[in-house]
Amino acid sequence: MKNPFYYQGDAPAEFCYDRLTEMKRLRSAADNGQRIRIRGDRRIGKTTLVNQAISKGRLLIKVDFGAVRTLDLANERIAIALKKATETRSLFSKMRVMLNAVDEIKLGPMTIKGARRTSSTESSLSHLLEVVGEMAKRRRVAVFFDEIQDLMDVDGSESYLWELRGITQSQHNVPYIFAGSNRHMMRRMFDDSKAPFFKQTYDFELAPIEESRFVGWIVKRFAATGKAADPEIFEHVYRICRGVAGDVQCVAYHIWESEQEGERALTDALRRVIGPKRGGYQSIHASLKKSLKLMVKALAVMGGKEPTGKRVVGSVGLSGGTARAALKGLEKRGLVFDSGNGYVFDDPFFRLWLMALDPMETQRMYPESEDWPVVSQLVWD
Ligand SMILES: Nc1ncnc2c1ncn2[C@@H]1O[C@H](COP(=O)(O)OP(=O)(O)O)[C@@H](O)[C@H]1O
Ligand SMILES: [Mg+2]
Repeated sequence: MKNPFYYQGDAPAEFCYDRLTEMKRLRSAADNGQRIRIRGDRRIGKTTLVNQAISKGRLLIKVDFGAVRTLDLANERIAIALKKATETRSLFSKMRVMLNAVDEIKLGPMTIKGARRTSSTESSLSHLLEVVGEMAKRRRVAVFFDEIQDLMDVDGSESYLWELRGITQSQHNVPYIFAGSNRHMMRRMFDDSKAPFFKQTYDFELAPIEESRFVGWIVKRFAATGKAADPEIFEHVYRICRGVAGDVQCVAYHIWESEQEGERALTDALRRVIGPKRGGYQSIHASLKKSLKLMVKALAVMGGKEPTGKRVVGSVGLSGGTARAALKGLEKRGLVFDSGNGYVFDDPFFRLWLMALDPMETQRMYPESEDWPVVSQLVWD
């Protein structure tokens, strides 16, 4: 039997819980020609949702700006996405001609050569999106700019983003969808009153799949492959992962693979998940200065509610000011963030690894932690 779980990025529909309500809402926003901003934690299912909801009934032009370093590369990614989209449709031959007229956008070996006039990156952008406008006259399209926040770090991105805003504003029949996982950068891009997209988008918050439904779905998938699953274990997994779909599926994948039963299977799975990451975790940890080490451990063990309150601060012996600075430091490193309901770890497995590190200390800090029985079994060597 093939493992019924999948956790490596954008997931095929057959590995997904049907987010019917969200899909419907997203589709309807797209049909209304909205510019849509999708917020949600990393691995919660943003890319998956857009792909599944929008590619039914629309030609989805997908551009991933993840780790893009220059605006020329950003344009290149748009050009490649357009090229892909036009290739699948013979009726888009005219658009291909237009694309070929876009100046000097180098696509490695398949350089698109255009008329020999110099052009700025902004005018290339407007040419590229003009192609989208033309496509939209012939059929329903949508443009998906994924990990859009990565543009913010690129030299000269400010005028580029203003240009992007202008163009997307004028194309009423093209829904543009923006998604990104970095909360801080997304806020800078959309919520700052001076930001180009301030009050320019329909906000779509992607929350975790509701616990009992998600757990029920997992149990069914076990059953469909001839295996039994204990719902309580998966409720625990859900809490460990804060319901983040990609992390829950990762643990479910490894529990499914395990020869063990019940809580032992969970420990076994976590060992498999955390094992290969230990080196990375160790070097992150080693690079933290002492106050950050103390704070991150306290957050891991005691949770992130009132992290600078007496209970946590007292337990690690930091002054209030130092604790606050340490918290900021950890946030800056992207290790934890403020969820609105306390500080949480971006990576739930790093949290468990920290709990397993110096277990005596962990137990002293919070002997009743529900994760302790599992964590105490997480031994390597
Ligand atoms: N509807 C869903 N049902 C179950 N799991 C999902 C769903 N959507 C996403 N996932 C899980 O989350 C993982 C990451 O999804 P992805 O769309 O790449 O997240 P994001 O774009 O928010 O980082 C997928 O590989 C899959 O394991
Ligand atoms: Mg994504």
